[in-house]
Amino acid sequence: MRNNEQAQIPLIETRGLTKTFAATPALSEVDFTLYSGEVHALLGENGAGKSTLIKLLTGVHKRDAGVILLEGKEIEPRSPRHCQELGISAVYQEINLIPTLSVAENIFLGRQPMRRGLVDMKTANRKAYELLKAFDIDIDVTRDLSAYSIAIQQIVAIVRGVDLSAKVLILDEPTSSLDRHEVETLFSVIRSLKERGIGILLITHFLDQVYEISDRITVLRNGIKVGEHLTSELPRIQLISEMLGKALTEELAVQKSGISSNGLDREPFLRVHGFARRGMMQPFDLEVRKGEIVGLAGLLGSGRTEIAHLIFGIKHSEQGEAYVNGQAANLSSPQKAVQYGFGLCPEDRKEDGIIADLSVRANIILALQAKLGWFEHLTPKKQEQLAEEMISALRIVTTDMEKPVKELSGGNQQKVILARWLVSNPEFLILDEPTRGIDVGAHAEIINIVKRLAQEGKAMLVISSELPEIVDYSDRVMVLRDKQVIAELEGDQISEAMIMQTIAER
Ligand SMILES: Nc1ncnc2c1ncn2[C@@H]1O[C@H](COP(=O)(O)OP(=O)(O)OP(=O)(O)O)[C@@H](O)[C@H]1O
Ligand SMILES: [Mg+2]
Repeated sequence: MRNNEQAQIPLIETRGLTKTFAATPALSEVDFTLYSGEVHALLGENGAGKSTLIKLLTGVHKRDAGVILLEGKEIEPRSPRHCQELGISAVYQEINLIPTLSVAENIFLGRQPMRRGLVDMKTANRKAYELLKAFDIDIDVTRDLSAYSIAIQQIVAIVRGVDLSAKVLILDEPTSSLDRHEVETLFSVIRSLKERGIGILLITHFLDQVYEISDRITVLRNGIKVGEHLTSELPRIQLISEMLGKALTEELAVQKSGISSNGLDREPFLRVHGFARRGMMQPFDLEVRKGEIVGLAGLLGSGRTEIAHLIFGIKHSEQGEAYVNGQAANLSSPQKAVQYGFGLCPEDRKEDGIIADLSVRANIILALQAKLGWFEHLTPKKQEQLAEEMISALRIVTTDMEKPVKELSGGNQQKVILARWLVSNPEFLILDEPTRGIDVGAHAEIINIVKRLAQEGKAMLVISSELPEIVDYSDRVMVLRDKQVIAELEGDQISEAMIMQTIAER
């Protein structure tokens, strides 16, 4: 990676980098280096300061103290655009491109090739095609960006970034909404960028991916750098305890929900027969009992979220029937679903969930308030008590509950949405990717909460891309492919290998 003399000067170096938001010390005296041709993973729990470090490097925020060097020379990042010009490019989870423009137009946005005073789209298309082809991505660049998967959109953003500057590429949680195959594609792009000598700073909560792709690891905790290691020399258990700041004990030791003993033979809480919607989902049956966790597994786009939407009435089923506690039920709208005691914690929390300007407390009590009706007022004391409980149960990092949610780190915002649904105390809870973007510590907590809710008798339907997780807590697993339920696994059949095999079978 960096065995020749010249490469010894880091591409990026920070010394004593410090940033405080109001009273929150987000980053304290952090020294960080990134070398040419390496993938450096920046890890830490939600709120550890990862995004803050990146925002200081890219000129989104101004640092309070410290220096930033690019190839040994001090720089003063003024704005993301300025950093782009210097050679530092960042791609975020939320893609900052324009979905209604073509792939080529997006790649050349603001710098289109011109010919006789007109934009030369032919040249732009050819160049865009070649740029992507160099990464083995062979697509029609004249189609709208929105026609492609998130993975391709992300790669387009990366290609645009590296074509502009090509020294340092920063990726903040790029894989959190990708499926395994898409992660492969992205990783092969990352590997070829490495070979070109680009330094890559990667933030992710997926530890398997860290071990697969990174050369070095820096760990942050509470804004302080607590470790820097070669990936090959860092045992996973040590990494996790550095992130959490304690030795691992019962934290990750969780037990099965134990449905078998408490009522498999009971009438299911929810029974759905033959629900379907043209172009969205093939007919399916589903049963969820009280105290039972049903997992939905399948690749992204296989129909997992569609099932959640049909059951919760976000989209209504064109056929079939549903029964709640044995009684015919009309699930044609979310309002009705809520009346039947359903709750849904959606996948796209940024879009469907968070109300950025409201406080943490207000966001947490929102669903409960809606359920009670707006006239049955929750006393401030009750609101505080509920918020307090959730903040501590989910370990939401915030200075106080009146802080606007937008000032929390990404992962902590997600915990707030989960808290909202837990507080409303539904009988049947649908969780769509409850651990996405959530760090190891909170990850284990959320899984424990899922199991505890089942033990308390709630019916649970959980969608997850993480197979180990599904295998861990599910009493039954429905496997989906191409908008169809293709298998239902129970007991000993539930294993990662079995799920993958089922998905792959033709
Ligand atoms: N704009 C802001 N205003 C006030 N506080 C902020 C702001 N941005 C971040 N913080 C605080 O700084 C701390 C570090 O947040 P940061 O976003 O860097 O965390 P992170 O490591 O990226 O976490 P995550 O994994 O959840 O994305 C948190 O306590 C957060 O609440
Ligand atoms: Mg972040």
